[in-house]
Amino acid sequence: MLTDGCGREINYLRVSLTDKCNLRCKYCVPPEGVQRLDHADILTLEEVLRVISIMTSLGVNRVRFTGGEPLVRKNVISLIQKVSKLENAPRMGITTNGVLLDDYIEYLIFSNVRDINISLDTLDPEVYESLTGQDALSSVMRSIQACLVNEVNLKLNVVPIKGINEEDIVSLAALARDYKVAVRFIELMPVGCACSYEGLSNDEVRKKLNEVYGAETVCEVEGGGPATYVTYPGFVGRVGFISPMTHAFCSACNRVRLTCDGKLKLCLASPECLDVKSLIRSGASDAQIADEIKAAVLKKPAEHGLKFTDGRNMIGIGG
Ligand code: 5AD
Ligand code: SF4
Repeated sequence: MLTDGCGREINYLRVSLTDKCNLRCKYCVPPEGVQRLDHADILTLEEVLRVISIMTSLGVNRVRFTGGEPLVRKNVISLIQKVSKLENAPRMGITTNGVLLDDYIEYLIFSNVRDINISLDTLDPEVYESLTGQDALSSVMRSIQACLVNEVNLKLNVVPIKGINEEDIVSLAALARDYKVAVRFIELMPVGCACSYEGLSNDEVRKKLNEVYGAETVCEVEGGGPATYVTYPGFVGRVGFISPMTHAFCSACNRVRLTCDGKLKLCLASPECLDVKSLIRSGASDAQIADEIKAAVLKKPAEHGLKFTDGRNMIGIGG
């Protein structure tokens, strides 16, 4: 078991497979773009597999692939298949913008990916294009239908931002009325270029949804994640609230992050990390790497305290 200095069990690893994305969401990528990492600085898929294997041997039992956009990483499916065959195979999920997902869904299901999260901030094609830079909403909607048909555990992530998609909250929540899906509202965190925008608090979102859909019923806590789930009369799905800005959930944090350039980040908000890539490339053994990971995890910050001090944009962190 991997335990941090505050006694929190760390059983969840988010793996960013690339800093590239086929979209340019305004709050994730700055207008001038981001400095691309050199190919040589990105972990190879063999190196990623090795880190996952070491971490599962330490007790990590859930892995989520993120990006940028994980599905633009070449050979992503072959990596996922190898992870599914590890001795201590973790439960796997992926967080994607959904644009390419329809082409990959069968392979993901075949490879035992059970949890699919799609980022979707609006149902209006024009707002979608102005927010992401691409006229791709119809592809995302096709992917959502494919997930529903295949009965995967589907969550939709929405980041409400003042002046951008405030008007979309009610229609996005309606997806949980009509389909067996969790629509989750995430408070905007002031990371990189997101600092130029103002998010809505989930108290505001929740008030609005209670006005429109009637009194919420709080669902039982599930999975140990940071979301609070509710449902409304007549809903087949659930609505979730992830509130890092107004209701910090750091005391229950169970996760660390592997960036695509091989840093094990201990907290989303802070630059503190272990340079796993250097360890691997200097010839360290699995046992040595495992020891370094255990020592690093002990130094995981207790909380973000609303101080977001990692200079990266979210595209380089993976949410
Ligand atoms: N604050 C909160 N959520 C964010 N995401 C991207 N940037 C931010 C931010 N600054 C979300 C994406 C995606 C998830 C991985 O993180 O919308 O759904
Ligand atoms: Fe790409 Fe997700 Fe960032 Fe949008 S939020 S640019 S989809 S990584």
